[in-house]
Amino acid sequence: MIRLALGSDHAGFGLKDSCRELLAGRAGIEVIDVGVYDIQSSDYPAVAHRVAVGVAEGRYDRAILVCGTGIGMSITANRHKGVRAALCHNLYTVRMARMHNDANILAIGSRVIGEGLAL
Ligand code: RB5
Repeated sequence: MIRLALGSDHAGFGLKDSCRELLAGRAGIEVIDVGVYDIQSSDYPAVAHRVAVGVAEGRYDRAILVCGTGIGMSITANRHKGVRAALCHNLYTVRMARMHNDANILAIGSRVIGEGLAL
């Protein structure tokens, strides 16, 4: 069972929630929604640190972090030892992030890529 954490700020909330709906109930994946839970303005580093610490400590196997661009989430998460957060914009970068970089966190920008591509 893969423990997958989902986290976002207000800008990423909608896409993060769509990811949660898509993944809920999938065999072999336990989804842990770390927040935020609404579109009220929030600071992305708070969630990025919470998720990254969980990955670094082995409580989550993988994570997806969503903010407006994905940049703040990836920069913040990568401050933690053992975290390899990859900011991806397409299927090629996602594939390479796993194959060549052993990424354990996917960072995406809700204002950069469409929901269809993200899902
Ligand atoms: C919030 O407006 C925005 O700055 C944030 O979601 C993110 O894009 C930061 O990197």
